[in-house]
Amino acid sequence: MASSRLLLLIGVISSHLPEVQGKPIDFWCKDHARKSMETKLETLKKNMAHCNGSDSLPSPVQLPCIGVLKKDWENKTLQHKRAEVMGALQVFQEGVQGVSKKTTVGCQTQLLRGLELIIKNHLVIVRTLLIQNDTVTPSDSAVQHCSNQTNLNEVLKQYGCLLRGKLTHLAKDVQDSLCKVEDMTINT
Ligand SMILES: *[C@@H]1O[C@H](CO)[C@@H](O)[C@H](O)[C@H]1NC(C)=O
Ligand SMILES: *[C@@H]1O[C@H](CO)[C@@H](O)[C@H](O)[C@H]1NC(C)=O
Ligand SMILES: *[C@@H]1O[C@H](CO)[C@@H](O)[C@H](O)[C@H]1NC(C)=O
Ligand SMILES: *[C@@H]1O[C@H](CO)[C@@H](O)[C@H](O)[C@H]1NC(C)=O
Repeated sequence: MASSRLLLLIGVISSHLPEVQGKPIDFWCKDHARKSMETKLETLKKNMAHCNGSDSLPSPVQLPCIGVLKKDWENKTLQHKRAEVMGALQVFQEGVQGVSKKTTVGCQTQLLRGLELIIKNHLVIVRTLLIQNDTVTPSDSAVQHCSNQTNLNEVLKQYGCLLRGKLTHLAKDVQDSLCKVEDMTINT
């Protein structure tokens, strides 16, 4: 608690960024705002059922390591946690962009474009989280690749794990310092 108070969290938190759905402050402070972005991912999964052959990707997508151990996570600085989440999102972004150029299935292109938008949205939101004295960049924190996937369903599944894992942990970690003004609505 005490150490998180030392960190001043600012950012473009009160404004509505045109490219983002919803306010970043809501994303960090309100569980339902984060859940609504997970729902978009679930919708993509459902839409795959209407796209014959969408499961198999034309080339492997490199995925980041999404696993998170509570004791390792707690030991990291907020700056490192943010860099780690940014790095993982960027690996997803590069992978999905790369494979969407190769796909020849029209409806699969649409699905991949939808996923790209979701990833971009999360990247913008994590970028708005400014942490005092943050000098760590994702490249510093050695982004790791953990697997190669040629199955779109698996890519979506792992992205969901990143959202419910590291990204949610990060949100919980910044809530103390970031969400005070919104205290009345956090627990709704
Ligand atoms: C940030 O850096 C300034 C100047 O280097 C220092 O005085 C301050 O204690 C640092 N704050 C944190 C939270 O590390
Ligand atoms: C899906 O594609 C396979 C192979 O191309 C085909 O045999 C099958 O009938 C298709 N299913 C639908 C629902 O279009
Ligand atoms: C946590 O960090 C401390 C100090 O940096 C280190 O000594 C300790 O081994 C770390 N613990 C874990 C579980 O990584
Ligand atoms: C994934 O594929 C790339 C390119 O073929 C390879 O360099 C990398 O080692 C693979 N990564 C894993 C975790 O298998």
